[in-house]
Amino acid sequence: MSSQPIAARPAFARWLATTNDITRTFLAAGRIPGLINMAGGLPAAETYPVAELAAIACDVVAAHPQEVLGYGPVEGLPELRDALAARFGSDALPLTRANVLVTSGGMQGLDLIGKVLLDDGGLIAGQFPTYLGALDAWRPRAPTFRNLMIEDAGFDAVAALAGAQFAYTVPNFSNPTGRLVGVEARQALVDAAHRTGTWLVEDDPYGTLHYDGAPLPRMLELSARSRPSGPYDGPVIYMGTLSKEIAPGLRIGWIIAAPEMIAALTLAKQGSDLCTSGLTQRVALAALEVGLIETVQPRILATYRERRDALCGAMVEHLGGWFDWEVPVGGMFVWATARDPSLDTDLLLPHAMAAGVCVAPSSVFDASGLNRRAIRINFTLNEPAKLAEGVRRLAQALMTMQARPG
Ligand SMILES: Cc1ncc(COP(=O)(O)O)c(C=O)c1O
Repeated sequence: MSSQPIAARPAFARWLATTNDITRTFLAAGRIPGLINMAGGLPAAETYPVAELAAIACDVVAAHPQEVLGYGPVEGLPELRDALAARFGSDALPLTRANVLVTSGGMQGLDLIGKVLLDDGGLIAGQFPTYLGALDAWRPRAPTFRNLMIEDAGFDAVAALAGAQFAYTVPNFSNPTGRLVGVEARQALVDAAHRTGTWLVEDDPYGTLHYDGAPLPRMLELSARSRPSGPYDGPVIYMGTLSKEIAPGLRIGWIIAAPEMIAALTLAKQGSDLCTSGLTQRVALAALEVGLIETVQPRILATYRERRDALCGAMVEHLGGWFDWEVPVGGMFVWATARDPSLDTDLLLPHAMAAGVCVAPSSVFDASGLNRRAIRINFTLNEPAKLAEGVRRLAQALMTMQARPG
């Protein structure tokens, strides 16, 4: 007897029904020869500190063979947790290792938060539009989404957070929009989290990719100021990763939160992967100790600033009649909204792929899939000349779509 088809399983069918085929199309775009992939959120591989990481990796295997090749504590290497507590803590924000969980990339943090906080069909208050990976991580629980329109005038943070199992935000150069949430809105969200008791997730992979201006305070810090003494025990769950600061292949991320939350997430992690790789944790620790982030940061910022400017310049030349956008001050993306409200960017995708370019349509960043008027364009992966050519191809696709809409 053949086994029951997976698609017939109710839980899987329910999950599949909420995913978007468009996502699979653009995630596969990177493997199509000749296609300019401006859809993904990928770093420029030439910024990876290859020689430095190779030397560190050799050293840590030789110096700590049992630790890096064996299983380690679920919570992460104690020294790495201490180093992260020191990196993000201050007098105003006292952190100890009990506040820190090492995760296998930022994605695992999102998955664990869903496991701990989300009931089947539970309510998530999520910044709109929302990071696709977060939607994917939580879809198995078939949640209900309440869109947080943080940038809208009159945004009522208390009403927005009340009753939700948690709130999700990417305040620094959001994925997908590249925008910054202002200090007032951050403070309002933090105050609302304290008032309503709703956990507030601050997902921050892009915070150090700041090209103009000064960084804004983290919500974790704003939250601590209202409770000045003892290790942090507030409602913010802060998440970070080395993926954009050093290299995503390390799969090193972290969660900083109240010790009670860290203990719960640790239990969830135990049933997920037992521990993050001891090898890459040791590499990460050594990288923090020798200041590798600070060494590579100028190179990363210069490369990405130049690429952002190249993309935005090409957009002015070729896309100005079609889209509106803001030049982002950090991060990896430009979010462009069609001037014509009837332009459907899901329908633009096949035309773009036929023209040899791929961008991410807005529907994949909306749990309902209804937002189909914008595109997210990545500027970090490709060199300036390729970005310009990609934009030219996109303009060509728009003209083809206009001529042959079907
Ligand atoms: C907002 C956001 N959160 C989390 C992640 C996951 O990062 P990681 O590579 O560390 O899993 C990403 C990756 O692009 C992201 O954009």
